[in-house]
Amino acid sequence: MTDKKHGHVHHSKSTKDILSADKVLSAAGLKSGDVFLDAGCGDGYISIAASPLVEGEGKVYAIDVYPESIEIVKKDVQKKRIKNLEAIIADLTSEIPLIDDSVDLCVMANVLHGFVENGELDKVLPEIKRVIKLGGIFSVVEFKKIEGLQGPPFEVRLNPQDVENVLIKYGFEVTETVEVGKYHYLVNAVKN
Ligand SMILES: C[S@@+](CC[C@H](N)C(=O)[O-])C[C@H]1O[C@@H](n2cnc3c(N)ncnc32)[C@H](O)[C@@H]1O
Repeated sequence: MTDKKHGHVHHSKSTKDILSADKVLSAAGLKSGDVFLDAGCGDGYISIAASPLVEGEGKVYAIDVYPESIEIVKKDVQKKRIKNLEAIIADLTSEIPLIDDSVDLCVMANVLHGFVENGELDKVLPEIKRVIKLGGIFSVVEFKKIEGLQGPPFEVRLNPQDVENVLIKYGFEVTETVEVGKYHYLVNAVKN
């Protein structure tokens, strides 16, 4: 979706019907006790799935710029009596309200292509890198670059190589790229 003033408009639609949160979290390597950041969480279904997996010392931060999405996450958290998940309205292109080196694993699912399209990587990637611990992981999930009814238009979709190049450019070390389900792939990268 595009409009003349804002360029690519990030699709606010959840991918929960076509992308398994458990598959994403397993491929990303989420562990008990991790501090987990869901960057551009939408309705937060990946964050909700992460919550029991980090139990104990762990914590989940679900961040989105869209207040209605955060409202949905907060309602779900209340309904399910989740104690270790904080849903926060924040703009990833300005400041992530977390301290330096505090996140073990950040998943950004179906969001990066929009930042590429809008030329916002210089704002977002250094912020993501700032909040991830040394040795922590940044996992980017994107729609495969194929024609599809759901998801961004073909020309906006990224190849795994495009995502890897972005991560390398911003100082991450790419460790693996794997398929997650029929329509998506995930690229894992370490902050060294
Ligand atoms: C396609 S949705 C993906 C939502 C979720 N990650 C998923 O896979 O279902 C993209 C999300 O990124 C959020 N987003 C876009 N730009 C953002 C920004 N600058 N800061 C924070 N969130 C942003 C949108 O509000 C939207 O919820």
